[in-house]
Amino acid sequence: MTYQIGYFVGSLSSTSINRTLSKALVALAPRDMKFTEIPIRDLPLYSPDHDAAYPPEAQALKDALAACDGVLFVTPEYNRSIPGALKNAIDWASRPWGQNSFDHMPAAVIGASIGSIGTAVAQQSLRGVLSFCNARQMTAPEAYIHLKPGAIADDGEVSDDGLAQILTDFMQEFRLHTERVLTVIPRPSS
Ligand code: FNR
Repeated sequence: MTYQIGYFVGSLSSTSINRTLSKALVALAPRDMKFTEIPIRDLPLYSPDHDAAYPPEAQALKDALAACDGVLFVTPEYNRSIPGALKNAIDWASRPWGQNSFDHMPAAVIGASIGSIGTAVAQQSLRGVLSFCNARQMTAPEAYIHLKPGAIADDGEVSDDGLAQILTDFMQEFRLHTERVLTVIPRPSS
């Protein structure tokens, strides 16, 4: 079996360290995990007024999630929470009422910051949101990445052996977590 994993990068920055981290995670993941980024940049702000007819960008988000076996969040911390662009994407995905895309979805959360807190507070905030959305979150290992300059190259190659091991272990456990959840709760598309 191949696991189709959608991933969100919570940053819109052209120099995002979380995008760099996402490249490293994809490169270090087990070979039977296939990754597709789910873009959030062009989503309009969510309003229930759109529930009757989602705009194309939001429908594409829903379609992408419907095709996934699991979802990975790679996010910075903004003001001790998650960036508004990511929260907006989650709000779109959670609606219309009764069509929550995250329902029973295997999910994992990780993030990098330039400071020592390593997105810990943002991840707790995100976990609360995903809990309400009924995603099946991997609870361990946690990974709060304090990214030092040069530890990951722009193409995602990790030069720090300790960090490479942490990221490899994280993705191996996410694969196991996804397998376990899908064994009990198969995706509607499968
Ligand atoms: C930050 N940053 C930040 N860092 C942190 O550890 N805790 C925080 O609460 C915040 N808050 C915050 C708010 C805003 C609006 C910005 C722009 C930045 C710093 C942040 O960790 C740093 O800019 C990272 O490089 C952001 O990740 P990306 O965009 O490079 O992936």
